Amino acid sequence: MSGGPTRRLFFALWPDDATRRRIAALAREIAPQPVPAANLHLTLAFLGPRTAAELDCLQAAAGEVRAEPFELELDFLGGWARKRIQWLGTSHIPAALTALVAALNAALAGCGYEPESRPYAPHITLSRKARQPVSRRLEAPVRWPVGDFVLAESVATDGGVRYEVLARWPLG
Ligand code: 2AM
Repeated sequence: MSGGPTRRLFFALWPDDATRRRIAALAREIAPQPVPAANLHLTLAFLGPRTAAELDCLQAAAGEVRAEPFELELDFLGGWARKRIQWLGTSHIPAALTALVAALNAALAGCGYEPESRPYAPHITLSRKARQPVSRRLEAPVRWPVGDFVLAESVATDGGVRYEVLARWPLG
């Protein structure tokens, strides 16, 4: 593909306002410096730096994806010591989420995207540079009705990273 300036892109599930507020409250509870509420999301596929031509290809590919809406029950707080992140996840990954990621990966292959070789681990990062990993079931899970997915851009600013939604596709 041709060169030119690039933008750092990823496909994600983007919480609705009510779900976002609940996730942000959990992030504040466990971390002194939580991820800003506006940045909370669940990555489906991380593309990295992409040119304008690649962006066109990715948008067309995403438009071909057919997948069903589903509910995500976020019931688990976990952490990865090596990455020093704390995250919110689920102890039962819906089949429809697995199917969505598979359909997206297949569609994106035509744009030169290669999915990560390790298994997909859906998570919402709540905190970075965490001192201690957490591992805890939530007594009151966050139920997130997922009805669409988005293409987002990671924009570096003086105040830290900011995520912008570039496009959105409905499920079902
Ligand atoms: P993370 O929350 O586990 O760091 C934007 O950077 C989003 O893409 C984040 O949710 C990040 O996951 C995810 N991501 C996946 N693979 C990545 C990579 N190789 N580099 C940066 N971000 C990545």
